[in-house]
Amino acid sequence: MKNKFLLSVSGLNITLEKGSKTLTIVRDLSFSIRQGDILGLIGESGSGKSLTALSIMGLLPNKNFRVTGDIVFNGVNLNQLNKKNRRKYLGNEISMIFQEPMTSLNPLVQVGKQISEPLKIHQSLNDKQAYSSVIKAMGLAELPNPEAIYNYYPHQLSGGLRQRVMIAMALVCTPKLLIADEPTTALDVVVQKEILTSIKKISKELNISVLFISHDLRVIKSICNDIAVLYAGSLMEYGKCTHVFSKPQNEYTKALLLSIPKPEQKGKLLDAIPGIVPPTGHIFSGCPFSPRCKQVKDICKYKMPDFHSENENHFYACHKEEESGERKNT
Ligand SMILES: Nc1ncnc2c1ncn2[C@@H]1O[C@H](COP(=O)(O)OP(=O)(O)OP(=O)(O)O)[C@@H](O)[C@H]1O
Ligand SMILES: [Mg+2]
Repeated sequence: MKNKFLLSVSGLNITLEKGSKTLTIVRDLSFSIRQGDILGLIGESGSGKSLTALSIMGLLPNKNFRVTGDIVFNGVNLNQLNKKNRRKYLGNEISMIFQEPMTSLNPLVQVGKQISEPLKIHQSLNDKQAYSSVIKAMGLAELPNPEAIYNYYPHQLSGGLRQRVMIAMALVCTPKLLIADEPTTALDVVVQKEILTSIKKISKELNISVLFISHDLRVIKSICNDIAVLYAGSLMEYGKCTHVFSKPQNEYTKALLLSIPKPEQKGKLLDAIPGIVPPTGHIFSGCPFSPRCKQVKDICKYKMPDFHSENENHFYACHKEEESGERKNT
């Protein structure tokens, strides 16, 4: 079972109709997650990470967004299902946790009751069974003293415990896939580490696959098996974390790795990536990173690079192997 892909996204495009224009936000994105594995999706702000997650959930913000491509979950192409059939997966086989739990929790309802909401939608349990499922999920999310916390209101809990409430809610229907969108960004470093450890433990023990979104490579490195590097809506590099971190091939990935603070750099300025992220929907004629790339060649400016394989577990988009950087006369 370990080698089976639970989720395979291929050729995903997300576009947004804005007036008479169609903006492409995510283009031709493909990645897969094996059962029980954690894939880290990384990219700068605005690169399309959250919209990718929402497109898997079928929860894009409004009808001006359009998703094409295949989102195959457990053998079913979710992108071909109607709304009603798709809803059956949400909070059930696929669940999601977000950056700021307070915005997702109702301040007026006890947390235990809120955790039981997905059960009401997807399972017909009596009150006693629902209560015991909630207590079990709270235990899995490592909430201390679940019976007491069940009756608390969100404001009575710390940020870390509120995020654990969200994790319990995500786990209550025993999902196969958990999507975590920057779940620890709003937390202090110590709590962040504790939550990451819990997510890794939950994934391992319950064989749950996780799509873990972050803009922090250190976080990805600490818990993910695989990594997908997104830049301005395009996949730049993809593969096993061990390979990508030890031998990055794409210049954007290399630059990101150089921007991680290292102990020996204490007191020195970090290597920031010069230039700015292109605006949303910018139309690229070549590699989106080419305006900021130190190794840019002529071809990079007019042709999006194909994917090359460094080995069977490591892929990257770059023109660096191509002989000529000059534009061919066609
Ligand atoms: N509701 C919306 N309406 C219009 N444009 C949107 C909407 N949501 C996102 N976008 C645009 O789509 C692009 C991708 O957004 P997305 O939220 O997926 O980025 P992200 O990679 O998750 O960034 P961050 O790291 O800041 O969370 C952004 O540039 C944003 O401007
Ligand atoms: Mg986001």
